[in-house]
Amino acid sequence: MPTSRRAEPDACSLLDADHRNVKKMFKEYEELTHSRAASAQQKKRELANEICMELTVHAQIEEEIFYPALREAIKETDLLDEAEVEHASAKDLIAQIQEATEVDDKFDAKVIVLGEYIDHHVKEERNEIFVKARAARGLDLVAMREQLAARKEELMEELGATA
Ligand SMILES: [Fe+2]
Ligand SMILES: [Fe+2]
Repeated sequence: MPTSRRAEPDACSLLDADHRNVKKMFKEYEELTHSRAASAQQKKRELANEICMELTVHAQIEEEIFYPALREAIKETDLLDEAEVEHASAKDLIAQIQEATEVDDKFDAKVIVLGEYIDHHVKEERNEIFVKARAARGLDLVAMREQLAARKEELMEELGATA
């Protein structure tokens, strides 16, 4: 039975699974902003911390492994320049969220805006960067998946993630 190489789990599908996971967490957060329960504040703080950690690790494996390999393999690298600028801005917002002492309306706004920001960034990765990566010659995305997974595990451990 012929199977297309594209259907094989690769670096892009691993990264996109992260994207979907974090999207789900942002949605959960947004639902909590409508809750008046006292426990909602605590849950929001925990969820925000988890979102920040997931995004930090995700951005780091892209920056260490995926983007540099892609930079070698494709001609137009403006997309990667933009992606790196977007990462830097997301990290600013992540730092603000992590440093915030109160879970107030301003805190909610920061998490919501981070979510919108990530949405935009993910669309560019999914619709442009991943498409170019999969079309690039000499880029072994299936092998890179293992590399990304291993580094991700290492970083999660370093950051003390329970997941
Ligand atoms: Fe990404
Ligand atoms: Fe990214």
